[in-house]
Amino acid sequence: MNLEIRAFLFDLDGVITDTAEYHYLSWKQLADEEGLPFTRQDNEALRGVTRRESLRRLLKGRVIDEATAQDWMARKNTYFNASLAQVTPADLLPGVGALLDEAHAAGILCAIASASRNARAVLERLQITDKFAAIGDGHSGVNNKPSADLFVWTAGRLGVYPPQAVVFEDSEAGVDAGLKGGFWTVGLGDAGVERAHLRVPNLEGVRLNWLFEQLQALAGGDS
Ligand code: BG6
Ligand code: MG
Repeated sequence: MNLEIRAFLFDLDGVITDTAEYHYLSWKQLADEEGLPFTRQDNEALRGVTRRESLRRLLKGRVIDEATAQDWMARKNTYFNASLAQVTPADLLPGVGALLDEAHAAGILCAIASASRNARAVLERLQITDKFAAIGDGHSGVNNKPSADLFVWTAGRLGVYPPQAVVFEDSEAGVDAGLKGGFWTVGLGDAGVERAHLRVPNLEGVRLNWLFEQLQALAGGDS
């Protein structure tokens, strides 16, 4: 198969910057205030999924009424937004800046595809909004990860087909979404990303030549 990569679709939280940690700490604060047991291990299941789905998973079957759910989601979001004040342009994860620069120089379109409704605020704090030709976020559609819709929506904004794009994800839900959509999918980290086409600890050291060689080998044939 002839490999033609035209775009990179990046998840945001946990891929571009470590706001995944702030999502965890914000849910943890809410859980502690409400006396709900919630550990870092529990948090792994919340990676990449929407605010509403995160709350459902955090509740572990406990039933609350809708007004309480709204209140708890709003409180968690307030905590998360307060933590964004700490985010600066120095908070790009290792390798992100170099990979974006290399992609731009090679004419590869870069986009964000994040389940978060706060994605634009995070990008503003990092001062990298203008590096992305499209931004898909928690406002871009009804179905979020592990549905493929957000990646398909974002690829459509770029005018590329799924097999022409590489998804970078740190969550199980995101990897499954990328695969379902027919995208080349790179899993970051060591938990939940086993099904990705390729796995790396983070984006440090991920260079275009290496990436394309790996993908070409998976696609079959020479690069
Ligand atoms: C994802 C995060 O990017 O966005 C999840 O990995 C988070 O942890 C989700 O729940 C939704 O974020 P927000 O900012 O809309 O509550
Ligand atoms: Mg993520």
